[in-house]
Amino acid sequence: MMPMTEAQSWRVRVRIPAKINIALCVGPRRADGFHELSTVFQAVSLYDQVQATGRADGRIELTMSGEGSERLACDRTNLAVRAARLLRDRHGNPRQGVELRIDKQIPMAGGMAGGSADAAGTLLACVECWRLEVSLDELLGLAAELGSDVPFLLLGGNALGTGRGERLRALPAAGRLEWVFALAGRGLSTPQVYRRFDELAELGELTPSSQLASDGLAGLLSGEPDRVAAALRNDLQAPALDLYPELAGTLAAGLARPGVLGGLVCGSGPTCAFLCADASSAGAAAASLAGEPTVRAVRRGHGPVAGPEVARLARAEES
Ligand code: C5P
Repeated sequence: MMPMTEAQSWRVRVRIPAKINIALCVGPRRADGFHELSTVFQAVSLYDQVQATGRADGRIELTMSGEGSERLACDRTNLAVRAARLLRDRHGNPRQGVELRIDKQIPMAGGMAGGSADAAGTLLACVECWRLEVSLDELLGLAAELGSDVPFLLLGGNALGTGRGERLRALPAAGRLEWVFALAGRGLSTPQVYRRFDELAELGELTPSSQLASDGLAGLLSGEPDRVAAALRNDLQAPALDLYPELAGTLAAGLARPGVLGGLVCGSGPTCAFLCADASSAGAAAASLAGEPTVRAVRRGHGPVAGPEVARLARAEES
């Protein structure tokens, strides 16, 4: 590892995409409180940016800007700060500090893994900034300790997630899918959505199963928008709608647009994702969804996109 004085002279910038689950099959609650999953993750082109500047006083400081950042605590409860501390505890030394600046495009508490993206981006930024030698496998292990979605955010593309979502197998990425995202007026808490899932299961209103049918998987990986649309599935959609009934209106409005082939709640919600036949129908759907009373904002994106991009910046290059 280089001496800290040199580490301090570098800034590192990581751009990291959001995720959606184009299939999310949820099994019963396990003894550890998590649910067994089979999920197909897809990285999509909404990005958070993490900038890290090394400091020699051991302090880990965070400032945030952009989408929903005013509602996030920047103290040690923040997942990005926890990521930097975890990496330093395991692979660094206590003198290593970092100034983190995160600019957010990924909606907060929206089911698109914004917090997880920031944690994954921070791990990568701090590895560079502190000049640590950490293998991808070690990083994936740290990521899994931070949260079930964090490992996927280190990879990007398409991947099958099993276990609680942290065991990953990269999947081929055929074709470019055009998505429209309808952001909701408030967030949903992931643990709360899983709890409602358990309650609905107890009432017999749904049957937990983490089985992903192989023909469904083939459709999702075909890259053909029609086949992907037919295979979209999210077992957390029912509990999310139960907790946030207005989302049914958002889904219905999106699905009624010409050229919208399918739609679903992203992860534990409440963002809704609509798969469109092509870029022009996505543009038209985005414009008309923006006028819906249940929609706070609309974003367009495409997927799958590559995982994080890490850039080393000399101080002199910084604005
Ligand atoms: O792993 P992560 O911190 O993202 O999980 C947040 C919460 O979501 C967990 O505390 C748990 O309540 C729920 N969860 C779950 N089963 C999973 C993933 C998450 O029950 N596979």
